[in-house]
Amino acid sequence: MSYEVTIEPTGDVIEVEEGQTILDAALRQGVWLPFACGHGTCGTCKVQITDGFADVGAASPFALMDVEREEGKVLACCCMPESDLVIEADIDVDPDFAGYPVQDYSGTVTEILALSPTIRGLRIRLDRDMDFQAGQYINLQVPGVDGSRAFSLANPPSSSQEIELHVRKVEGGKATTWLHDELQVGDSLALSGPYGQFFVRKSDEQGAIFIAGGSGLSSPQSMILDMLAEGDCRPIYLFQGARNVAELYNRELFERLADGHDNFHYIPALNAPLPEDDWQGFSGFVHEAVADYFKERCAGNKAYLCGPPPMIDAAITTLMHSRLFERDIHMESFLTAA
Ligand code: FES
Repeated sequence: MSYEVTIEPTGDVIEVEEGQTILDAALRQGVWLPFACGHGTCGTCKVQITDGFADVGAASPFALMDVEREEGKVLACCCMPESDLVIEADIDVDPDFAGYPVQDYSGTVTEILALSPTIRGLRIRLDRDMDFQAGQYINLQVPGVDGSRAFSLANPPSSSQEIELHVRKVEGGKATTWLHDELQVGDSLALSGPYGQFFVRKSDEQGAIFIAGGSGLSSPQSMILDMLAEGDCRPIYLFQGARNVAELYNRELFERLADGHDNFHYIPALNAPLPEDDWQGFSGFVHEAVADYFKERCAGNKAYLCGPPPMIDAAITTLMHSRLFERDIHMESFLTAA
C-alpha cells in the first residue's frame, strides 16, 4: 500500500509506502525537502498539508506546536500519509544540487587510521558505488545504538565505492566510543546516503574559502580533492584549525596539494600549540587566521564552514565583517548525537 504525495510549488509527485515518512520517501526518490535533525525536534522540515490526511508521528511539541497541528502543518521527517496528499513546502533548490537519491548500502571496513589522538579515519568498501556530491554526508547505523549517526564523506566522489569517514571520539558518546574502541577492520556496517546541501557552488567562478575545525575537515577534504582533480582553477583556500600539532591531521596531504597547485592555499592555525610543537605557523583561532589573511577583504569568494558550533559562529562574524553576505556562506547543519 502506498500513497501519492504532490509537493507544491514544484509539482513533484512521490510515492510514500505505508509507515514511511514523507521526507524519507522524497530523499529516496531524488526530491529534496529542507530538513536538519531528521527526527522531529528542529522544525526545519515543516510543511503544510493542503489536501488529505496524515499521521503527524513523533513530532516534538516544541518543533510542531498545537496551533500549527490544527492548521494542518506537519514535520515531513515524522509525518506518514494516511491518504494521497498535497503539501506545500518552502523549497529553494540550489541550481548546483545534483539530487542523487538516498539509498541503503552495506560496507566492510578496510582500514582504520589514527588521524589524531581524538580522530579516527575509517575506510569502508561499499557493496556498490554511491553517487554523491563532495561535501555531503551519510547516516551510519552503529551496532547497539538507537538511530543513526551522521558523518561527512571525506573521499572525493571519484572514489565512489570506498568511502572515508573521520570520527571524533566524543566523551560519553556511545556511538563514537564504539567506533573508536570496538570497530575492527573486516567488520560490516550499514548506512544510507547521500544527504545534505553542503557542496561547492561550482556554477559561479568565485573563489572558495574552506574553514574547518576538528573532524569538520572531512567534507572540505572531499570538496578540495574533487575540485583539484577536476582542474578547477579558481582560488581555493583551506583554513584548518586545531589545538596543537598532534590534532592537525592530514597536514602533509594539504601541504603536498598546495605545493602542486598554484591556486590552492593551505593555512593551518593552532590555538594551543605545545612547546615541543615548535610551531612556526599562525597561532590563534582559525577565524582569526582568516581575518589576518584576508585583512577584512573576502568579497569575491564563497565560504564553506565545517566544525564545532563556536567555530562556525566566530567564522560567520569574521566573514561578514570581511564583506561576505549570508548568501555567500555555506555550512553543514546536520544535528546528530555522539
Ligand atoms: Fe524534521 Fe528536524 S524536525 S528535520
